Amino acid sequence: MRMTVIGTGYLGATHAACMAELRHEVLGVDVDEAKIEALQNGRVPFYEPGLPEVLERNIASRRLRFTTNYEEAAQFANVHFIGVGTPQQRGSYAADTRYVEAVIDSLVPHLEGEHLILGKSTVPVGTAAALQERADKLAQPGTTVEIAWNPEFLREGYAVKDTIEPDRIVLGVQAGSNAEAIAREVYATPLANNTPFIVTDLQTAELVKVSANAFLATKISFINAVSEVCEIVGADVTQLADAIGHDDRIGRKFLGAGLGFGGGCLPKDIRAFMARAGEVGADQALTFLREVDAINMRRRQRVIDLSREVLGSLIGKRITVLGAAFKPNSDDVRDSPALAVAGQLSLAGAAVRVYDPQGMDNARKVFPTLDYAASLEDALTGAELVILATEWDEFKQMDPVHAAELVEKQVLIDGRNVLPVEQWQQAGWELHALGRSLG
Ligand SMILES: NC(=O)c1ccc[n+]([C@@H]2O[C@H](COP(=O)([O-])OP(=O)(O)OC[C@H]3O[C@@H](n4cnc5c(N)ncnc54)[C@H](O)[C@@H]3O)[C@@H](O)[C@H]2O)c1
Repeated sequence: MRMTVIGTGYLGATHAACMAELRHEVLGVDVDEAKIEALQNGRVPFYEPGLPEVLERNIASRRLRFTTNYEEAAQFANVHFIGVGTPQQRGSYAADTRYVEAVIDSLVPHLEGEHLILGKSTVPVGTAAALQERADKLAQPGTTVEIAWNPEFLREGYAVKDTIEPDRIVLGVQAGSNAEAIAREVYATPLANNTPFIVTDLQTAELVKVSANAFLATKISFINAVSEVCEIVGADVTQLADAIGHDDRIGRKFLGAGLGFGGGCLPKDIRAFMARAGEVGADQALTFLREVDAINMRRRQRVIDLSREVLGSLIGKRITVLGAAFKPNSDDVRDSPALAVAGQLSLAGAAVRVYDPQGMDNARKVFPTLDYAASLEDALTGAELVILATEWDEFKQMDPVHAAELVEKQVLIDGRNVLPVEQWQQAGWELHALGRSLG
């Protein structure tokens, strides 16, 4: 099948390359010329394990190309995916849908014949119906354009696997639509492997995505709220999470107490969901998400406070923050808890040094004033306090004996509860963590 993928960021570049890997002919479209040039030259402009190989292979096979030209996109295929950003609006909790609207405005006037547009971006409920009206106004006489919604659930760090072998496919369609038949062809390979395929109306599909993210955020903030109590009474939140996680109605996943969630999705998605619920008249329904957000933000503050408690004063203290990406296996620093902590400590007067295996370039753009180390060893050298803020394997596997030789003071805050405590204590480290007292 031929298809275009419009918006080639984390979601779109992955989707385009993986659709080509599934033997489709794909044209990736973006307004960012530098990004398109990089992709066309086989270079992924962000870190995503496994994606460079898929990209190169499919460019070489000529199944995958990239362009900035919407006219070319309109002529190339009758199926178009939208994967552009839907960030938080400035000064509001709501999502900014101007980029998805811009795609309709740029694409639809060039279309001829019958076209299906499958939205993958995460949007407020009601967006797909509004885009359909917009498309109807812009379509040339005799041309039909149908909008369907096909939300994306990929996880950065596992994006290739999640796209090629999704755990479910959700499709929102309008009455009398033939989008399902086309989507079945697009996803023939995963569907042949019994991937659950759920066909709904447009508004349900839109809500599925934001509900999934709201649930995950709530689960993380739940354990972090419990962790606040644990800290005061001297209980251990990691043991508690293990114990409740054995109940398969609860499950252990997403019960890792620590610095909380961040990234380009969860924070803005729960805020947009709250805002939209208010707009549609369900004022009370999602107010609890404000608390979920607040609990999450308090964990960042807790690490700052703990640093101050441990060091006495922050002024001039050499603090090393390990991690800049919002989670391991990604270079994405959007709303990163690690970087927020590093930035706050620096503003409070500490001399902060940051190291991340992949997120350094992006971090430098957001916080150019921080000191960035060239390696883990370089980062640890001379530190008076080390904060593990993103749980990269490189940090989890650090040798506490070797690390002790590099630092000025053997004091560490494990912001993710991932280090083997005894091993570190035996090597002479004073260890602090969120949600447990390590004595
Ligand atoms: N990143 C994820 O893990 C993930 C997972 C699921 C869903 N999503 C959702 O997918 C959407 C995209 O997220 P992302 O992380 O890939 O964002 P991103 O910022 O990495 O990519 C967005 C891309 O869209 C391009 N763009 C903007 N306006 C355009 C236009 N008019 N025409 C063509 N291209 C345009 C930008 O240049 C950019 O390359 C968001 O709605 C997000 O919530 C993301």
